[in-house]
Amino acid sequence: MIDFGQVNEYLARVQPPSEGVTAEMEAYGREIGFPFIGPLVGRLLAMLTRMIGARRVFECGSGYGYSALWFADAVGDQGEVWCTDTSAEHAAKAEEFLGRAGLWDRIRFRIGDANEILAETEGPFDVILVDIDKQDYPSTLERTVPKLRPGGLLITDNLLWDGDVLRETPKHEWTPAIREYTRLLVAHPALETVILPLRDGVGVSRRR
Ligand SMILES: C[S@@+](CC[C@H](N)C(=O)[O-])C[C@H]1O[C@@H](n2cnc3c(N)ncnc32)[C@H](O)[C@@H]1O
Repeated sequence: MIDFGQVNEYLARVQPPSEGVTAEMEAYGREIGFPFIGPLVGRLLAMLTRMIGARRVFECGSGYGYSALWFADAVGDQGEVWCTDTSAEHAAKAEEFLGRAGLWDRIRFRIGDANEILAETEGPFDVILVDIDKQDYPSTLERTVPKLRPGGLLITDNLLWDGDVLRETPKHEWTPAIREYTRLLVAHPALETVILPLRDGVGVSRRR
């Protein structure tokens, strides 16, 4: 059986190392033990964003802005990245990091519940990232899909949840919600979805 932990370590090793503010944000995340997406998924986000020429990105769950850094770079200087987080402390940290990276003018950071902010924010978006607390994943799906343009991407992190989704008796309280979300995601009539076993499992869904 292939060991996905080892695969991800190998993939991280063969990539060029992060530099500048990106590397600082990774060091900060590791230091405080924060669950940021990391450089493997960061590159994927940036590449998908560039591939579809995305200009408007919405993040459900931005933390201190690591995933937003990759998006903000990829949308270009005419683009915007809407960030959401329930923590004002994370938002302040994001401003500090992304300001130093010269990308803060592309960011619209809102503090509060991502689903509520998304409902109040005019779409459509080219890309929506779902990376909030996992018990809220199932209710997020029907809020995000109508906000995506046709051909736009819904990207969801943590669909493998450290392998807990494979267990007959899951250990983590959020695993049933992740499984339910995954079931809804792959069956959604407006979406075509591929789940990539990169890092903790990334869902890439394209709105038809
Ligand atoms: C996994 S972290 C996000 C990491 C970020 N996407 C990155 O990779 O850099 C999840 C974040 O979502 C925030 N969060 C959890 N539930 C939320 C909700 N309902 N609305 C907004 N933010 C939420 C948490 O405060 C936390 O900072």
